[in-house]
Amino acid sequence: MTEVRPWQPGDDLDGLLGAGADPLWVAQGHALHGEDRDGDRWRRTLVAVEDGEPVGAVTVARNRVHPGRWIVSIEVAPARRRRGLGTLLLDLARELRPDDRPLSAKVRPHRAGGAFARAAGARTYQHCECAQVRPEARASTALTLTERPVPDLGALLSAQYRWVHAAWSPLDEGMAGWLGGALAADVLSDLSAVSWAGGRPAALAVAFPGAPHLALLAETVDEHQLDGDRHLEAAVHRALTACAQAGVELVEFDGHVTDPHLHPLLQRLPRAGEDPLHLVEVS
Ligand SMILES: CC(C)(COP(=O)(O)OP(=O)(O)OC[C@H]1O[C@@H](n2cnc3c(N)ncnc32)[C@H](O)[C@@H]1OP(=O)(O)O)[C@@H](O)C(=O)NCCC(=O)NCCS
Repeated sequence: MTEVRPWQPGDDLDGLLGAGADPLWVAQGHALHGEDRDGDRWRRTLVAVEDGEPVGAVTVARNRVHPGRWIVSIEVAPARRRRGLGTLLLDLARELRPDDRPLSAKVRPHRAGGAFARAAGARTYQHCECAQVRPEARASTALTLTERPVPDLGALLSAQYRWVHAAWSPLDEGMAGWLGGALAADVLSDLSAVSWAGGRPAALAVAFPGAPHLALLAETVDEHQLDGDRHLEAAVHRALTACAQAGVELVEFDGHVTDPHLHPLLQRLPRAGEDPLHLVEVS
């Protein structure tokens, strides 16, 4: 007999993680479960319990940065999968959300989450290749952030983030300053690069600590940057050179197939691998 009840203090949901769970799922999906919260960080978690043991969980949370969709995280214990519990938890998530905005999640298309999303009729609204590249030294006119710091990295990062997401997951303007500052705080300056145009930063390729690979976020600062392809290539090549010199073996690009300068560049760079990610939504 399965009972579904609100999350309680003392609930240990780590048993829901299968062996070889995707690190991104552990950090962002699994980590979402927890006590109820209200206001800006609104969240509700329900736990499915059998014989006193958690066998599944579903969380719906407010997305403060991208307010167009709720975030959903559904998880079922490995021994309890393929018996309809995930589908039941998705139905409960639809009831949990305070309004009709879609539920969204990040899934790997080749894993259970992707198959589950397809079976649920989810729409993929963004594809991320998560291209992996072995850094090599290449000539570039760009400079690392250590060689030439920028006055307000947070403002540049929020400007870049705003236009990259505008068409498919607009940023809440009230969160733009916070987001830029939060991103800037994690940037690895000596592995990040800027291509300059007449004294102004034109393109950024910024490195973040990532698990399991170093993550590179790269695009022009302005969507309509003159010579944007060339500036982005220079920034990426400089960042990859710095990574190679620092002994970094593999970097993973945190990009989207709609990124107009980064996506074509990634098709030209020798690729060591990829770990595709789909952003999906259900009504
Ligand atoms: C994704 C997950 C929640 C699915 O839970 P579940 O209880 O197995 O889901 P259901 O039994 O309701 O499956 C519904 C349908 O999804 C599809 N599906 C689910 N898992 C699948 C898999 N591993 N391979 C292929 N299809 C799968 C099937 O069509 C299935 O119907 P069927 O069993 O009649 O063929 C579970 O595998 C899990 O916890 N994965 C790790 C966390 C995760 O990726 N969550 C993403 C969702 S936000």
